[in-house]
Amino acid sequence: MTPLAQIPAWQALQAQCEALGASSLRELMRADPMRFEHFSAQFDGADAHILLDYSKQRVDERTMTLLDELMQARALRPAVSSLFGGAPLNTTEGRAVMHMALRGEAEDLYQADGTPVMPDVLQVRERMLAFADRVRAGQWTGATGASITDVVNIGIGGSDLGPQMMVQALEPYCSGPRVHFVSNVDGAHLKGVLKQLDPARTLFVIASKTFTTQETMANARSARQWLIGHLGETATRQHFVAVSTNGREVASFGIDPANMFGFWDWVGGRYSVWSSIGLPVALALGSAHFRALLAGARAMDLHFRDAPFKHNLPVLMAAIGLWNINFLGLDALAIAPYAQNLSRFAAHLQQLDMESNGKRVQIDGQTVSYATGPLVFGEPGTNAQHAYFQWLHQGPKVVPVDFILAAHTESGLEDQHRLLAANCFAQSEALLRGKTAEEVRTDLIGGGMAPSEAERLTPHRSFPGNRPSSTLLVRRLDPATLGALLALYEHKVFVQGLVWGINSFDQWGVELGKQLATPIAAGLQPGAAPGLHDSSTLGLMQHWQRLREQ
Ligand code: F6P
Repeated sequence: MTPLAQIPAWQALQAQCEALGASSLRELMRADPMRFEHFSAQFDGADAHILLDYSKQRVDERTMTLLDELMQARALRPAVSSLFGGAPLNTTEGRAVMHMALRGEAEDLYQADGTPVMPDVLQVRERMLAFADRVRAGQWTGATGASITDVVNIGIGGSDLGPQMMVQALEPYCSGPRVHFVSNVDGAHLKGVLKQLDPARTLFVIASKTFTTQETMANARSARQWLIGHLGETATRQHFVAVSTNGREVASFGIDPANMFGFWDWVGGRYSVWSSIGLPVALALGSAHFRALLAGARAMDLHFRDAPFKHNLPVLMAAIGLWNINFLGLDALAIAPYAQNLSRFAAHLQQLDMESNGKRVQIDGQTVSYATGPLVFGEPGTNAQHAYFQWLHQGPKVVPVDFILAAHTESGLEDQHRLLAANCFAQSEALLRGKTAEEVRTDLIGGGMAPSEAERLTPHRSFPGNRPSSTLLVRRLDPATLGALLALYEHKVFVQGLVWGINSFDQWGVELGKQLATPIAAGLQPGAAPGLHDSSTLGLMQHWQRLREQ
């Protein structure tokens, strides 16, 4: 693999960074009154519309051309063909990466490692959706014959974040049973959910690709005990279903294989919400909306596969990210959806991006000499404005922001929605413009403040500005749009991982802590020897034990 630093486009981008460094966003805006038209792109598909405005990013035409050249030098086009062709791109696990097939149709003819996958995908999808609709219609009943009013999804990571985010995002479209999510091994999570529920009307979905994840299995066992305590041993059959790739473990847990919905090892956990891991979403929304969600994502897949790079939203967003991270040195990304229903969107993107591209070793085993995936965080606006935005506006570090906003609201509160939009636009404008010392002085003195006091306050009340952001503007936050939006970020992550030469589809970094937890858990049993640990870990374990004895 050619080292990135030796690629001419990479070198030219470094020079471009110095050349452009002096010009601010204010100047770039002044220099080109059509900057919005020149630095925005649109996606339309499956009734979803997404506008990407990246004119508030610190780029010019030459930057975008060089980023395009960089991606061509990294063979993006052939790599996209390999991805869609089902090549084993997850090289450390020898697996294809085929989540696009989960939202595919029969005509898509997707394969994984040479085997057609659509027949199986469609068959499991239909079974899963039929089951969801049966539960919703009250045709699937609990052990006492009562219909299901509450579903508890027990899973973690990709088996929790995606479905949870979607159920919340599409709340106005939910019409089925209430869906709850339990992920944390902290018993408070399960306890807090169970105390709201009637066991006779509760269905548990145990969601785990491996069906061995410690947290999920611990919660699943406790949930089963709770259910059996209320309804007896035989009740599990009607109150527990599983979503997994591991039929053997599902059976040994005691869930009837007839009540298991499978998926495949070519689906990464953080890309699995489109598979039967989406069962809680289908239970909440019904099959028609779930299909719309898939259709939106599929439309984005086709856009990513076919659209020229200049108009290709995932490629543009990846390019902007590479520019910010590797050339401007801005290695974090704030996600600010101006949509309360997207309150788990940043959490989901955090796993998607950071578990995928939080890597320091290239596919060929060499250590990278450049930054890779960003630190991703976020909360919805306007709440975020009263929390971390101070840091974004005046902190010494610059963090690019992705703003997300819908034109329509389902709330019916149109004036509030206008206020929400106004705040979203105002924040990106403020980050761009900032407020100079001169502007602050003029304001303060114009407002009657004594010049000496104005002088004292000016440094505190000025804003550096020149802080980049992108805005994703959608028509409405409906199932198809959400599908397209999430697929957009998935493909962005793929493109960036390709340029960095890393494997975006494994996650070995989460293993060590998992391994160490097992002997530590044994050492925390009453009377057990703590085992060999460093002094800090040992000290903490012993102090914890002492506190429990008090
Ligand atoms: O965080 C590590 C991880 O393997 C994720 O990739 C995955 O989504 C999560 O654990 C849960 O795994 P499983 O679905 O196998 O329980």
